[in-house]
Formats: sequence, structure tokens, C-alpha cells
Amino acid sequence: ADNFEFIKLSKTGEQQNIGLIQLNRPKALNALNNGLMEEVGKALEKLDSDSSVGAIVITGNEKAFAAGADIKEMANNTFAQCVGGNFLESWTKVSSTRKPLIAAVNGYALGGGCELAMMCDIIYAGESAKFGQPEILIGIIPGAGGTQRLIRSVGKSKAMEIVLTGNQVNAQDAEKMGLVSKVFPADKLLGETVKLAEKIASNSQITNAIAKECVNVALESTLKEGLRFEKRMFHACFATKDQKEGMAAFVEKRKAKFTNE
Ligand code: CAA
Repeated sequence: ADNFEFIKLSKTGEQQNIGLIQLNRPKALNALNNGLMEEVGKALEKLDSDSSVGAIVITGNEKAFAAGADIKEMANNTFAQCVGGNFLESWTKVSSTRKPLIAAVNGYALGGGCELAMMCDIIYAGESAKFGQPEILIGIIPGAGGTQRLIRSVGKSKAMEIVLTGNQVNAQDAEKMGLVSKVFPADKLLGETVKLAEKIASNSQITNAIAKECVNVALESTLKEGLRFEKRMFHACFATKDQKEGMAAFVEKRKAKFTNE
């Protein structure tokens, strides 16, 4: 059994094929201390290598997805300690997850909480969700992707405004600016997110992984390089049994049965 202190790890969905990570430090609004992020990294590694898991959902509670990195834990950090310990480097495990990863955000997603959500592939939000990068108000800047991922999803003017004011963005505005794909009543959020995960998990795990990698390459490469990579990965799909099955099922007017081969 897993002995996690700061998170809950389970499997959910009709076929128990959705990994669910629930951040569980409610008294601190799920502030992301080192221990919690280490556990998130371990849980993701476990789910990523579990062949029965097709997609992963990460969530918090009604009040908070996560209110940021743990301010009390880092308040006395020195520059030397940050560099020496490579502070926040362990968080990159989240963005290197290969399976589809969906954030279900109710309540606060501030600072590192917003950054954690942005490391996921898709963000669904509850009506009361509040996003923001308030680091500037406490004398620092975002350190887990806030200055880099936000601009890629909402554009420069909005990203600058969010990073330079520390103002919170509500769920409706977050959806309008493209940070979030859909908004639901708070009590429907997790169920709807698991449904989305199940839909995605019904595809071949191979093509899910390839498609995710290709979309992410778009954020890190020129259009020319990205198109070249996409084309070759598209060709590679034809080496899988799942491509043969998917197309045969279409022709035979039946549902495809993917085997992840
Ligand atoms: N770190 C540590 N503890 C936190 C925390 C954080 N980021 N956010 C909340 N808490 C704690 C509070 O200290 C409080 O603990 P106590 O009961 O022991 O006092 C408890 O959680 C409840 O919080 P509040 O009483 O403040 O709750 P509220 O409803 O009045 O306010 C809030 C909610 C507006 C989210 C407020 O808690 C807040 O502003 N939190 C900090 C937000 C923030 O600045 N986040 C960025 C952190 S820096 C970062 O994330 C760096 C990075 O890029 C990785």
C-alpha cells in the first residue's frame, strides 16, 4: 500500500483505468511543500508505468486546488540553498508525464498551484476556481513555469497583467482567455473530468502518448521542425497494431478494440 502523507492516490472510472491524485493538505490550502511534490512525482511515475491506467486526473478540494508553493517552508531559503538544492527542479516530473494528465481545479490555483495546473495537458475548472500568479506580491516571481507557460496559453498582454499585478482570474475569464477548456458547477467538476479522462483512455495508449508528445513539441520548436516531427510520428502510427485495428473497425462498422500494441 502507498504511504502518502500529503496526497491520496486511487484508481477510478467505470473500468478503474483512471489514475486519480488528490492533493491532501487541506489546512494549508494544499500549499505545495517539498514532501507533497515528491509524492506527486512518485505517484505520477507509478501511474505512468501502470499499463492498466489510460489517463490521470489531478485535483484538490472545493476550497483549493493549491494555493502555491509553501511560503513558510521557503521563506528563509538563501540563493545558495536554492541553487545548491536545485529548488523546484523536482516539479518537472509533472510535465514529463507521458500519459494524458488532466487538472480538475476547484477553488484557488495560485502561484505554484496555477503552474501545476498548467503542467497538465488539459484544465477543467469549477465555477469558483481562481487562478493567479501572486508571487510578485511577496517579492519573487513564478518559478515553475508561470512566466513561460501562461504566455503560451493566454498571450502576452494577459500573461503580463497576471504576472505583474498578482490579480486573480475567475473561472469564466480563465475559460474565455483559453487557460481552461471548460467550466462546471463545483460539485460536477470531478465527475466531468473523469468522464473526459475515460473518453481519452478509450484510445490506444500508444497514439495518446504520440499525440501528446507532438502537441507539446509545438511549444518548444519552430513550425518547420514541429511539422517534420509530426509527419514522421504520423508515419510511425502505421507500425502499430492499433492502427490496423482502428481502421479495420471503421471499415467493418464496429467499435475498435485497442490493445496498446
Ligand atoms: N504557503 C504556505 N501556507 C499557505 C499558503 C502557501 N502558499 N497558502 C495558504 N496557506 C496557509 C495559511 O498560512 C493558513 O495557515 P494557518 O491557518 O496556519 O494560518 C491556511 O493556509 C489558510 O490560509 P488563509 O488563512 O490565508 O486563507 P484565506 O481564505 O484567508 O486566504 C488565500 C486564501 C488568498 C489563497 C491566501 O491563503 C493566500 O494568499 N495564499 C498565498 C498565495 C500565494 O502567494 N501563492 C504563491 C506562493 S509562491 C509560489 O508558488 C512560487 C512558485 O512559483 C512555485
